[in-house]
Amino acid sequence: MSRSDAAALAALAGDHLDLVQAPFTLPRSRILVFREGAGVRVHTSEYERSLEDCRVLDALLIRDASGDALPITRVLPHAIEFGNGTVTVAFAGPGALTVGLGNAPSPSSLACASVEWTTPDGEARRAELGADAPAIRFDVSADRSVVAEASATHAVDVADGEVLWLEWFAKCPVVRDDLQAMTAFCWWVLGANVVELPALGRARAVVPSKIGYVGLWQWDAYFIAVGLRHGDPALAREQLELAFRFPGPDGQLPDVVHELGVLATSDDLPPGDRENLRRAGSTIADPSAPVPLTKPPLAAWALAKVLDAEPADAWAREQLAVIRRSQDWWFAASDLDHDGLPEYGHPYSSGLDDSPIFDGPLPTTAPDLGAYLVRQDLELARFAERFGDADAAAHRTRAERTLVRLLELWDHERGIFRARAAGTDVASDTVVGLMPLLTGRLPEAVVDRLVAALADQRRFGTPWTVPTVAVGDPDFSDERMWRGPVWVNTNALVIEGLRASGHPSLARDLAERTVALVVHGGGPHEYFNPITGEKARTATTAFGWSAALFIDLAVELSASPGE
Ligand code: GLC
Repeated sequence: MSRSDAAALAALAGDHLDLVQAPFTLPRSRILVFREGAGVRVHTSEYERSLEDCRVLDALLIRDASGDALPITRVLPHAIEFGNGTVTVAFAGPGALTVGLGNAPSPSSLACASVEWTTPDGEARRAELGADAPAIRFDVSADRSVVAEASATHAVDVADGEVLWLEWFAKCPVVRDDLQAMTAFCWWVLGANVVELPALGRARAVVPSKIGYVGLWQWDAYFIAVGLRHGDPALAREQLELAFRFPGPDGQLPDVVHELGVLATSDDLPPGDRENLRRAGSTIADPSAPVPLTKPPLAAWALAKVLDAEPADAWAREQLAVIRRSQDWWFAASDLDHDGLPEYGHPYSSGLDDSPIFDGPLPTTAPDLGAYLVRQDLELARFAERFGDADAAAHRTRAERTLVRLLELWDHERGIFRARAAGTDVASDTVVGLMPLLTGRLPEAVVDRLVAALADQRRFGTPWTVPTVAVGDPDFSDERMWRGPVWVNTNALVIEGLRASGHPSLARDLAERTVALVVHGGGPHEYFNPITGEKARTATTAFGWSAALFIDLAVELSASPGE
C-alpha cells in the first residue's frame, strides 16, 4: 500500500478519535489522552484499576499569545492538533507526551503559546512555548509520576509517531467502500490496544481495552487474532502464543495473562473481585475452595483461522500440543458429575459472566460448552490428519460421545437447548442455546427450530440481533451485560454456526446485520442495546474483539459480494 493510501486510512480512523470513546494513545504506551473542556487530561492504563485512579495530568490547556484557549481542531492517530495545527500533542515514545509548536498556517500569526495543566493533587503549572523552548515533554512513569521539561525534539517525535502509524495502516485490510471507514477505525483500535506486559517482555499483547481490560484474556485473544490475521498474521500468531504460554500442570489454560502473572483460579482474583463475591455470599470467595478459571475451548477454531491466512506448520504443531492438553483438561477436571459432558465451575470460564444461566447454583452444564468441545475435537481431528501427529479417530470418537450428551439438553417442547444448574434445569432462553449450531452435527429438525428462533420476535428477532437473552425471557434486559445486549463475538459464533449447519445465506445476512450494527452504534463497543442498536450505557468502547470481528466480517463480506 502506498504512503498516501495509508495516510488516507489513518485520517479516516482519526475522524473517530473523539477523545471520549477513543482516547489518543500509541501502541505499547500506557498513556491515554482524553478531552476535557477545550483541552485534555491524561491517564495511565493499568490492570484492574479504574481510570479515575490513574489520573496523571488534569486540565491541560493550550493558550495562544493573546491568552485565548486554542481549541482542538483535528485528531490524527499520531497527533492532536490545536488551533489548526498551531500546537500539536504527540508521543515521544511510549512513555512520554510532547506538546509543541507545530506548523502554524502563517508563522507570524504565532510566535509563542503557553501550556497550562494541573497535577492530580491540584497544583497548577504553566510553561511558555516559543523560539527558545518550542516544546514541553511530559515523561510519565509506571508509578504515575510525571516529569515535565523543555524539549527540542518535538518535530522529530511527531514525525516518528506518524511513521509508526503509517506502517500500521499500510497493513489495514481493504474492504467494501461502505465498510472501509469503520474498518480503518477498528484497525486503529487493534493497534492502539497493544501493550507490553512485564511478564511477557517485549511481546505485544493486544488487550481488550486500555480502559478497563489491560491484560490478555484467553478467548479475547482468539477473537482478536481472527481479526488481526487479515492484516498482520504474525501479530495474530503472537496473540495465540501468549494465550497458550502459561498452561497449568494439568493442561488448564488461564482466564487472563496480566502484568502480575495469570488469573487461573479464584485464588488469583484481584482483591476487589473477591470482596464483591464475598459480599454476594459466594463460596467462591473462600480461599480454601479455589475454583479453576479459564475461558471457552475455542482455541483450535481460532488457530485454524489464523493458519488459513498464512501457514506456519511447525509453529502450529507446538501450539496444538498445548491445545490438546487443555481440551483433555475439560474432560478430566471439569466434568464434575462424570457424565461425559463437562461443566463450567465458574461463570468467568464461560466468558458470559452475568448470563442468567448462572443465577442458580454452580456448576453449570451449558449447551455452548458442549458445542465448543465437540467443535474443538473435530478441529483437532482435522489437524491430526493434516500433521499426522495425533490420533484423529480418538478426537472424533470423543466428539460423537459429547454430541450425544449435548443433544440430551434439547427440550423439544420449548425448542431450546437448556442449561442445568447443579443438575437442575434452567428455564432461561439465552444465546448459549444457539451455539450447538457450531457442531454442524445437529438433526435437521433441531437446526430448523433454532433458525426459526433467530427470526422469532418473541425470542431472538429483535431489531438489532442477536440478543444474548431472548426478548421474551423474564430475565431479558436491553442494557445489562450478557442479559440481553448484542455482543459481536456471540454473533460471530452464531454466524459460524449457521454456516456449519447448512445455512450460508442466513449466515451472510447476520454478518451484514452485525457490521451494520457497529456502524450504526458508532464504533466497536463492548456490547449494544438490541432495541436501539446504540452502545449499552455500561459498555466500554474501542473494544478489541468487536473491532477484530468487525474486520473479519467486513473482509468476508467484501470477498464474496452478493452470494
Ligand atoms: C468480560 C467478559 C469476558 C471477557 C472479558 C475481557 O469479563 O464477560 O467474556 O473475556 O470481559 O474482555
